[in-house]
Amino acid sequence: MKRRVAILISGRGSNMAALIQAASAENFPAEIAVVISNRADAPGLQKARAAGVPTVVVESKPFGRDRAAFEATLQGELDRHGIELVCLGGFMRLFTADFVKRWYGRMLNIHPSLLPSFPGLDPHGQALRAGVKISGATVHFVIPETDAGPILMQGAVAISDHDTVDTLSERILEVEHRIYPDALRLLASGKVRLDGDVCRTADGAASGNFLISPFVG
Ligand code: GAR
Repeated sequence: MKRRVAILISGRGSNMAALIQAASAENFPAEIAVVISNRADAPGLQKARAAGVPTVVVESKPFGRDRAAFEATLQGELDRHGIELVCLGGFMRLFTADFVKRWYGRMLNIHPSLLPSFPGLDPHGQALRAGVKISGATVHFVIPETDAGPILMQGAVAISDHDTVDTLSERILEVEHRIYPDALRLLASGKVRLDGDVCRTADGAASGNFLISPFVG
């Protein structure tokens, strides 16, 4: 049985699209049962509909600071769709600790940096200002702290002196689209387990290649 997944978005939904695409394969262990946006104008909604995935809008704005009330409505939609796993894809709304705990081990997020470096806003700018030579993307389990939690998968890119926020985000986005479906596949097929703060993967192996930056030959 495929695991039933909800993707939560607030914007363009390119990670959502990558997950939908991957999940359309017959042997993928999860199906995208619903896409939920907290903004009615999120461009990702159109993409989801075009792919034939049911969409729901739960506007967060009318709830103001009442996060618990927003989450109660959201939880109602997750229940209604029989959701087992949640993927956040650029979902720009913080959750209460209660909601996060309820979904602990079953809710993933993706962030465009090698966490725990550069959480929060403008991770690409943070990486460039810090002068790191390698950055990337991280898929992690969601915990109450923003952009933190057991790391399921990471992918890296080299940073050059010519990079700007735009060029770096474009390259990291490619990595995001690659690792998010892979991470969901592992979770949905029961191949990952949480060991305290650490996520371990059955039969997991690091890829054999070095990534050295700058490369001097
Ligand atoms: C992605 O780059 C994702 O990693 C980032 O928002 C973007 C959403 O793009 N998420 C965060 O920064 C979480 N702190 P998308 O809507 O095209 O998937």
